[in-house]
Amino acid sequence: MSGPWPRRPRFVAGNWKMHKTAPEAAALAREMIALAGGARPRCEVAICPPFPALQAVGEALKGSPFHLGGQNLHPATHGAFTGEVSGAMLAALGCQFVIVGHSERRHGMGEDDALVAQKLRSAQRDGLTPIVCVGETLAEREGERTAEVIVRQTQAAFEGLDQAAALSAIIAYEPVWAIGTGRVATVEQAHEAHQIVRATLDRVVAPGAGARISVLYGGSVNAGNAAALFADDQLDGALVGGAALEAASFWRIIAAAGA
Ligand code: PGA
Repeated sequence: MSGPWPRRPRFVAGNWKMHKTAPEAAALAREMIALAGGARPRCEVAICPPFPALQAVGEALKGSPFHLGGQNLHPATHGAFTGEVSGAMLAALGCQFVIVGHSERRHGMGEDDALVAQKLRSAQRDGLTPIVCVGETLAEREGERTAEVIVRQTQAAFEGLDQAAALSAIIAYEPVWAIGTGRVATVEQAHEAHQIVRATLDRVVAPGAGARISVLYGGSVNAGNAAALFADDQLDGALVGGAALEAASFWRIIAAAGA
């Protein structure tokens, strides 16, 4: 990689989305731990199950090297927000991470850039590391607006954040057209997008910040394509959906990230 810093930490997070009841989720977590066979992954790993399964998965992961994460949070600390969950509630269940601004929330639940920025700050206030998702839709890519969208989303999330806070966040570049479609971005497409994210961080946070923040790729990552993606020096790991629901494939992605 470029820059005077040591290699950025590699990180793989599994986003289980709205899959698995609590008992099913705990069973999958135990299967993953068994598969690891006591081996420590050579990268950081987090599992983000649905809210009702957090406690059961947290218990299953105790003593393992795997971290727990939430998939979303409300920016307020508490209050009359029916159906919502705060960062403090996630932290109390043992979460260290939380996904913020996933495209399924931006596009399916109407989350805008301002709300994503608020959520990033709330996560950090509550002691969680945010995994901030950015990425263009197919129409935006075809309209040659990819760079514009990535710059706008990254800038909106990070502008005004102090440098230490910015450096402790994680970003996931997830092109919307690649999520759950089996149509993974090419290494070149991901490389270029990650460079745009880093250049934006250099401008918005501080010169050199981009080289110090982990940027993951997400969108149809699987056991077959992970190694090629991770061979690129811009990609610091992956946010994995479908392939994280199967212990063996998730473990192979983890192994590829640590290679
Ligand atoms: P996918 O999902 O791996 O199933 O494409 C990725 C994500 O939504 O984070």
